[in-house]
Amino acid sequence: MACLFLFPFVASLLFSLSFAEIRYSEIRSDDRTIIPFDEFGFAHKGQLELNVSDIQLSNPNPDLDLSKVGFFLCTQDSWLHVVQQIEDSEISCALQSDLIKHVFTFKNLENGKSNFSVFVVENDADQYTLVFANCLNTIKVSMDVNSAMYNLERNGNRDYLSAGKTILPRVFFLFSLVYIGLTGLWIHVLYKKRLTVFRIHFFMLAVVVMKALNLLCEAEDKSYIKRTGSAHGWDVLFYIFSFLKGITLFTLIVLIGTGWSFLKPYLQDKEKKVLMIVIPLQVVANIAQVVIDETGPYGQYWITWKKVFLLVDVVCCCAVLFPIVWSIKNLREAARTDGKAAVNLMKLTLFRQYYIVVICYIYFTRVVVYALETITSYKYLWTSVVAGELATLAFYVFTGYKFKPEAHNPYFVIDDDEEEAAAEQLKLEDEFEL
Ligand SMILES: *[C@@H]1O[C@H](CO)[C@@H](O)[C@H](O)[C@H]1NC(C)=O
Ligand SMILES: *[C@@H]1O[C@H](CO)[C@@H](O)[C@H](O)[C@H]1NC(C)=O
Repeated sequence: MACLFLFPFVASLLFSLSFAEIRYSEIRSDDRTIIPFDEFGFAHKGQLELNVSDIQLSNPNPDLDLSKVGFFLCTQDSWLHVVQQIEDSEISCALQSDLIKHVFTFKNLENGKSNFSVFVVENDADQYTLVFANCLNTIKVSMDVNSAMYNLERNGNRDYLSAGKTILPRVFFLFSLVYIGLTGLWIHVLYKKRLTVFRIHFFMLAVVVMKALNLLCEAEDKSYIKRTGSAHGWDVLFYIFSFLKGITLFTLIVLIGTGWSFLKPYLQDKEKKVLMIVIPLQVVANIAQVVIDETGPYGQYWITWKKVFLLVDVVCCCAVLFPIVWSIKNLREAARTDGKAAVNLMKLTLFRQYYIVVICYIYFTRVVVYALETITSYKYLWTSVVAGELATLAFYVFTGYKFKPEAHNPYFVIDDDEEEAAAEQLKLEDEFEL
């Protein structure tokens, strides 16, 4: 089954961390040895502000070696070496490695104080993760962590978007303009061909509008984060439209796949069941997405939510393929039995194309984009976003073009020669099948 292709990206996703911005995290009685906070791509003038308060250790024994508890910055490459050093027993704690950049160890905590503030200037451009290490396996840590990582622009303003993502607001804005253009074009087509418009065409209009609004909010959301370090509510709008876009797009793929409204005016029971599975799963996927984005990788359940999201996404992608396969099967049978070979063959070709394109779209946006994200340097992370958006755009354009309302329905203007040729081809296909 095509879904098997989707699994390589499960592994890659687990390593991609979320956007860095001003972040507030609560750690409660946590005994993890390593807690990753945000990941951020520093340009040449990067800065980290870290304010930690309400620090409580479960075992405040004065003899503990608190130099083994603290924060540090580390690149992905050097992290692999640090892990190697620990495996080779050269060091016993990541904080002892010379490959990391110390931020603060709890040894430096002033007597009796439960809070500290540090400010780190990072001039080596690279992608860093802020990590908390607790190498004392006897204590649990509670604390409130406020962190902000940003780059300074030439004019001294702060840019809270990571080095490879700083042009994303512009990218999203440009794509939203493209979809606004497509919306206009589609309304024009609907008006011109209004006598042959089906209900599904209005549904397609809704899908494009949702996509345009989603991109517009994402552009505004990211540009707000870029300037201020937090989203100030724009993220709520963004999540709402993401949710509506996700539901409408998957529903559209199912509806087109079943041939609803242009092949037949009703849905069969099993097709309704697919929708009844896909829509609630999309709700779960969107909730998972919000949790993943908002908590960041420090959360205890971050990995769990990430897995839930992946599983749900894979199930949705597989589920939407079934109606198309059923339609193809029905059309093949109809082509053999009802004597209108040419009509059915045309529909059959269209549905087969659609099946291939849906698979390509799913594969590209789920696997290729994540592969790109993994292999590109942190400075060019925006390229994987652009690649994903281009694939999505191509998919929308293909769907709109192939299933547009037709003034002269080609299914009914077929002469005898074409009918014979089609019957001939069907016969050939049957022989291949056997
Ligand atoms: C720690 O907290 C105290 C009282 O809340 C405050 O006065 C002090 O400035 C804080 N110190 C640091 C280093 O943040
Ligand atoms: C950290 O504390 C300083 C001084 O109180 C404050 O100016 C800064 O905004 C704080 N940063 C974060 C990320 O909370």
